[in-house]
Amino acid sequence: MDYTERLSNVTVLGAAGKMGSGILLLSALEVADLMLKPENKGKHFVINAVDVTSAALPGLMSYIRAQILRAAEKKTVQLRKLYADRKDLIENGDIIEAYINDVMNLIRPGTRIEAAYDSTLVFEAVSENAALKVKLFRQINENNPNKPWFFTNTSSVPIGGLNKDAALEGRILGFHFYNPPAVQKLVELICIEQNSAGMKEFALQLAKNMRKTVVPSNDIAGFIGNGHFMRDALYGISRAEGLSAGMPLYQAIYAINKISQEYLMRPMGIFQLIDYVGVDVVRFIMNVMNPYMSDENLHSALLDKLFDMGVKGGQYADGSQKDGFLKYEKGRPVAVYNPENGEYVAFDQFGAEVDKWLGQIPETTIPWKNLVRAANKDELAAKAFGGYRNLNANGTGIALEYARHSRNIGLKLVSDGVAGNADDVNTVLLTGFFHAYGPINDFVVKIN
Ligand SMILES: NC(=O)c1ccc[n+]([C@@H]2O[C@H](COP(=O)([O-])OP(=O)(O)OC[C@H]3O[C@@H](n4cnc5c(N)ncnc54)[C@H](O)[C@@H]3O)[C@@H](O)[C@H]2O)c1
Repeated sequence: MDYTERLSNVTVLGAAGKMGSGILLLSALEVADLMLKPENKGKHFVINAVDVTSAALPGLMSYIRAQILRAAEKKTVQLRKLYADRKDLIENGDIIEAYINDVMNLIRPGTRIEAAYDSTLVFEAVSENAALKVKLFRQINENNPNKPWFFTNTSSVPIGGLNKDAALEGRILGFHFYNPPAVQKLVELICIEQNSAGMKEFALQLAKNMRKTVVPSNDIAGFIGNGHFMRDALYGISRAEGLSAGMPLYQAIYAINKISQEYLMRPMGIFQLIDYVGVDVVRFIMNVMNPYMSDENLHSALLDKLFDMGVKGGQYADGSQKDGFLKYEKGRPVAVYNPENGEYVAFDQFGAEVDKWLGQIPETTIPWKNLVRAANKDELAAKAFGGYRNLNANGTGIALEYARHSRNIGLKLVSDGVAGNADDVNTVLLTGFFHAYGPINDFVVKIN
């Protein structure tokens, strides 16, 4: 089966979810490109958008239509060539409309898993529940005569286990998009020994056609991205808990969030990132990963406490941030949760006092948004960390330890065989987490 045939009948499971909707969009655009090639005229293509939440399907289709319109507007010249034989299409608007109709006609939304029984490729993006994933894979595999390939978006479950439990004979790999899939450039590709060479080649070609940066990860729970993030989050939490010996915990959370954003020059602080991903999701991913870790405990009692108090973070349907460790106004954190009494305390009430305790931030430290755009990012980051060495302040001291710890997590991912090399770890953090410098660098260790 060649590339085109493999994409002739695709199913996206969990299509109405955060990840599934983006995967559906990317798949639809790729299949449409194939369908419109002159040599494929007359061939039949289908994409089944399957989700149990039927109420979400109309919204999903509106989202897809709007995104395809945006994509079409950006490629009118290319579309004009593809529709050259359609003399009825004169204005750009006519061509865009024809393209939208063609793409939308590819997609069949529905709630029934049976739609996947004819598929040649199944993208899976249902909830992060290994038992559910195995049940769906097994059911499709037993009823589908095409020996379909399964590309799972799992964030943490080892692929080898899914393969074995669903008896897929190596026809599954991890194709791990980042959120949101249509925007984020990174795909972590997790192959297992039983995958055929053809399947791996196809996966690489597909990722390339979707304009993704591929980083291979070995099949170890959490892979590279969550392998770093979960440990980094636990470190941030433990540092805040440590500081709470000398200040209220909510103030310590504020301090660590500030250090991990401003001093480390990252796009957001660690507690804001936990909120963004979801307190519940982070806790859940740790729970999935933990049984696979022999020498460490990926667990936080503080995350359990927030979860039990109903503080979960994540986003509203319109994409705006829900409150978690921090409270947000117009997307910006303005207050911090006090786990002692369940109330948010405004930064105004204590921020200046904690800032004073942290001490002066050197002038060489620059905001992430400036650093990430600079041509000489590593040089500037090295300068900033050099500045921390010369200051004996609380904030700069913790920042150095934090950065070294992040580096050690990266090195351990390499020595444990999760990542093939330091570059792969750095690429995941640079591309998937938008860091301005890779965690495995020289400048954080040149610090005594
Ligand atoms: N959200 C992220 O940042 C992110 C990033 C990378 C990977 N992932 C992974 O992607 C997967 C999906 O995550 P998400 O955040 O999009 O979750 P989500 O809750 O937004 O979406 C899951 C979707 O699956 C549907 N679903 C549940 N059971 C189903 C079934 N039996 N059949 C068909 N559809 C079903 C739900 O209705 C929902 O629409 C998970 O494995 C997650 O770990 C998530």
